Amino acid sequence: MRLPDGFLDELRARTPLAAVIGRRVKLSRSGRNWKGCCPFHNEKSPSFYVYEDGYHCFGCGEHGDAVGFVMKSQGLQFREAVELLSGEAGMDVPKASPAAAEAEQQREGLQGVMEAAASLYQRLLHTQSGARGLDYLLGRGLSRQTITRFGLGWSGEGRGLLAAELATQRVDVATLVEAGLMRESDDGRAPYDLFFNRVMFPIRDRRGRVISFGGRILGDGQPKYVNGPESPLFSKRRTLYGLDLAREAARQGAAIVAVEGYMDVIALHQAGFAGAVAPLGTALTEDQLAELWRLSPVPILCFDGDAAGQRAALRVAELAMPQLTPERSLRLARLPPGEDPDTLVKAKGQAGFQAVLDAAAPISTALYGLMAEGVGTTPEARAGLRTRLEGAANSVEDKPLSSEIRRALLDQFYASRPQTPRPANANFQRRDRFGAPIKPPPAFIRPTPGAALATGERGRMLVAILLRHPHLLPEVEEAFANLDLPGDWAELRSAMLHFSASSEVLDSQALITHLQHSGLATQVGQALSAVPVPLPACAAEAAMPAEAATGWWHFFGLMNPGRLEAEVAQASEAFANNADAASQRRLIALCSARDALRGGRTGWDEIGGDDQP
Ligand code: UTP
Ligand code: MN
Repeated sequence: MRLPDGFLDELRARTPLAAVIGRRVKLSRSGRNWKGCCPFHNEKSPSFYVYEDGYHCFGCGEHGDAVGFVMKSQGLQFREAVELLSGEAGMDVPKASPAAAEAEQQREGLQGVMEAAASLYQRLLHTQSGARGLDYLLGRGLSRQTITRFGLGWSGEGRGLLAAELATQRVDVATLVEAGLMRESDDGRAPYDLFFNRVMFPIRDRRGRVISFGGRILGDGQPKYVNGPESPLFSKRRTLYGLDLAREAARQGAAIVAVEGYMDVIALHQAGFAGAVAPLGTALTEDQLAELWRLSPVPILCFDGDAAGQRAALRVAELAMPQLTPERSLRLARLPPGEDPDTLVKAKGQAGFQAVLDAAAPISTALYGLMAEGVGTTPEARAGLRTRLEGAANSVEDKPLSSEIRRALLDQFYASRPQTPRPANANFQRRDRFGAPIKPPPAFIRPTPGAALATGERGRMLVAILLRHPHLLPEVEEAFANLDLPGDWAELRSAMLHFSASSEVLDSQALITHLQHSGLATQVGQALSAVPVPLPACAAEAAMPAEAATGWWHFFGLMNPGRLEAEVAQASEAFANNADAASQRRLIALCSARDALRGGRTGWDEIGGDDQP
């Protein structure tokens, strides 16, 4: 029986293999896969593994796909097994109509043409005519091995070579037109080559069969890439460049990463990221997302750091939301502005791109950052944002997940609530009954009613002040870095210190956005939250720098009194040696914090009323 091309692929994709096998074999999780005792030989400890699209027994070597398993385990013929699984998958097994048989034959014919063209192009790359192309590819840093692995080639100059070469294999011009390699001309002249003077990138299907080509011009010029047209073999919106190699890599545990272009996939592959794939010049489609999920439960989508890239990320995130489940999610990674993966690995090597992947945010975190970016603080703007966040969460069809995502998004939303500015009369001078001014305690001593703050809370205050006033980071860096902080805060701290070291401008919003994109949005939200206790005034955006600094050392002193004394001593010495403005500021902040803690007002964070005389 001949099944139409793609039917079995579709059937395999729709068949949850672990569930089919699980009916006969007791399976347990093994990382992303499943394992159990092999049903085909007698064994006590499991060596039978079930992957996304196949099974393999390391004991007896049996392997196959869903159809094979059903045939073997139930003793069915191929056709019977296909019919059984198709029924379960809600698919009709097509009748072998003459038309279907003919279409199948046509595709087989075209596929042969594509393979023939691919090997011609590959051969040309190593002739004199292709020397420019080869130089170009080598000049872009590709190794000969990479060039071979991706089957890169040279189109020739477009003077009839393709038609002439393939004629020797009895392929006529009409077939080349059908395959999309030649084009009819409008003015009645002979068909001409679609690709000429270009380096050729064969586009392969998931099983590695060539189904189309992309061709790049050497250097600058328009259009930069020409891609083959839709054909019986090639559907742009279903195809991912690099899929055949990524499938293999996913088996071996590589991360699946979707990037933008041909060269990105190839450069990443060469740098060791063999799970890289790309759509073909368009935004990711639903079909392509589904394809990614066949390879990995949490593929990473990688976007440009610029505004256009972030818009694209938001579009794809919204497209994906309805389909998320607890087992099927996405992470979003953001490239440094102006870089693509190809330029990044060239500049920063494997580690540079690995850092981008490590910083990829889970979709709900990333989505918040993307939606909130640039949204103002007016009630109207915030209400609009809230509606959009809820809409996104509601679009998730999996109900339990939908409500978790809703909560995660709203947590971040509330955590970002603008701080209420202090009232205008805050500096109102109070006097005691003799008319002497009552010195109000520094504004940061706006303690929370109730019990003493737990150490974790004090740590949170330190983090919150720095989130709002990252300009303090260089000044407190050492003290901050050496503090004993609970886990979550410690993670946030190291990202903040890293930001401080690598950013020229220490801006609160930039820091917060960066952390949100680094998968730390939840921690940021917690740090800035008004629960369990509201933040002190020195952590408000509106606080003056000196107030923020004194407040910071205050909480630091509460956690570590001895260390505060040492800092004061060190700052006095530094000031004695070099009385510049910065050392002065530092010394004043430290002394105010120390004096306040000493002045019988220990535990400022413990008392209820703050400014009673
Ligand atoms: P880019 O313009 O980002 O190119 O297009 P690139 O991949 O970085 O290529 P290099 O590094 O300049 O060689 C991203 C993708 O968009 C499609 C291609 O699939 C390309 O890989 N594209 C781009 C086209 O189809 N046509 C074009 O003219 C340009
Ligand atoms: Mn590029």
